[in-house]
Amino acid sequence: MSTESSTPQNLSTIAELSSHEGKTVLLRGWLYNLRSSGKLLFPTFRDGSGTVQGIVPKAAVSEQVFETLKNLTLESSVVVTGRVRADARAPSGFELDVEGVEVTQRIPDETPYPIQLKEAGVDFLMEHRHLWLRTPRQSAILRVRATIMRAAAEFFDTNDFIRTDPPILTPNACEGTSELFEMDYFDDGKAYLTQSGQLYIEATALALGKVYSFGPTFRAEKSKTRRHLTEFWMIEPEACYLDLDGLMSLAEGFLTHIVRRVLEAHSKDLKVIGKDVTKLEEIVAPGAFPRLSYDDAHQMLLDAHAKGLIENAHVYGDDFGSPDETYISNQFAKPVMVHRYPAEVKAFYMQPDPGDPTKALCVDVLAPEGYGEIIGGSQRVDSYDLLKSRIEAHNLPMDAFQWYLDLRKYGSVPHSGFGMGIERCVAWICGLDHVRETIPFARTLNRIYP
Ligand code: 4AD
Ligand code: MG
Repeated sequence: MSTESSTPQNLSTIAELSSHEGKTVLLRGWLYNLRSSGKLLFPTFRDGSGTVQGIVPKAAVSEQVFETLKNLTLESSVVVTGRVRADARAPSGFELDVEGVEVTQRIPDETPYPIQLKEAGVDFLMEHRHLWLRTPRQSAILRVRATIMRAAAEFFDTNDFIRTDPPILTPNACEGTSELFEMDYFDDGKAYLTQSGQLYIEATALALGKVYSFGPTFRAEKSKTRRHLTEFWMIEPEACYLDLDGLMSLAEGFLTHIVRRVLEAHSKDLKVIGKDVTKLEEIVAPGAFPRLSYDDAHQMLLDAHAKGLIENAHVYGDDFGSPDETYISNQFAKPVMVHRYPAEVKAFYMQPDPGDPTKALCVDVLAPEGYGEIIGGSQRVDSYDLLKSRIEAHNLPMDAFQWYLDLRKYGSVPHSGFGMGIERCVAWICGLDHVRETIPFARTLNRIYP
């Protein structure tokens, strides 16, 4: 295997072929597929930016080039030279008239690449995730994920939110004690992997005004659903003097910005993934996201049940189940913001509604097309006494929360924030069945390999 320190002049990527029409380029990639009919070979190359089909007539190339390609094994690494030719029928719009090939590593015939192009089962694919990532669809998803992450951070950066990174090792729970990953922490006893940066960015918000955090979060979720990971990435804004209405407007602007950026940059990728973009275009079209109170959502579910549209009657006071969320979100083209849940079913830190203290000033944003909750957020309790009694009522360790209570003791202000799980957002935007395909290496209840 040779490496090169200088960049060849005619080096291109498959994504950039359109700017080299009629010219000879050099591509560094892998053999993705190979078809042949006698004296004609059709090798498909991929290089991480896309795929392109090569055309190799026996008469047009040297014997050595023809034989090398004819006998090349799938996923062998190659450096290919060829002339770029526009072809309207080609998925990328171009084909490559191959002129030369240099094999960087040929996979021996005895140990073929384990993932064949025919459909393999999901368990097999997850077991070979390190290789599965190479298929065009998986690569396309990861490119869209990268844009979603960049757009999410960009939205807050350009709206004067300061990024402040909370710790990952924490002494206490944020989102309920039943889902904590625990570890020994020297002589101090136990530490836990963070479930959310929220409590810490409430502190940085009171220091800096408007902040956000963006990093991995962990939930020892025993649930085996298509929406749950044990490790996922969350982006969380937190702002002083922001109320629930302002928070909902912030979430609306945030999601619109992300979808707009994906539509701008990824029409080809979304096509490879098989996502119908008209659904996404409706998100960025003019018009506000619907806002629905918990009570109205409950009534909507009862009506649907009465008409036989959903199986179970929603029980007032319960959280919404997956079929409930699917039904609600399917009633609207845009994400739905369900606000003011019964305080009882929600987190200890949520501010009660002054108009009806049995309700929390909170919001869950449900993505369209049945993707369910992608954002959860709320206004925070700002009174010292109320927060203290909440911590007691939830049987949380008061010692560990002293610093959090200090925030209500020294210059407390009304403040709000939300968290969005990146993987749920990717699943929705790409139209994926399961969050396991939204992150390079998913961590779930029954998988930690590779
Ligand atoms: O609704 P959650 O639990 O809210 C919080 O953690 C708040 N502290 C956030 C805040 O107000 N700053 O989680 C927020 C989001 C969910 O809406 C979902 O998108 C994602 O995090 N999420 C998960 N994603 C994948 N797998 C899981 N197990 C998830 N749990 C939550
Ligand atoms: Mg939630």
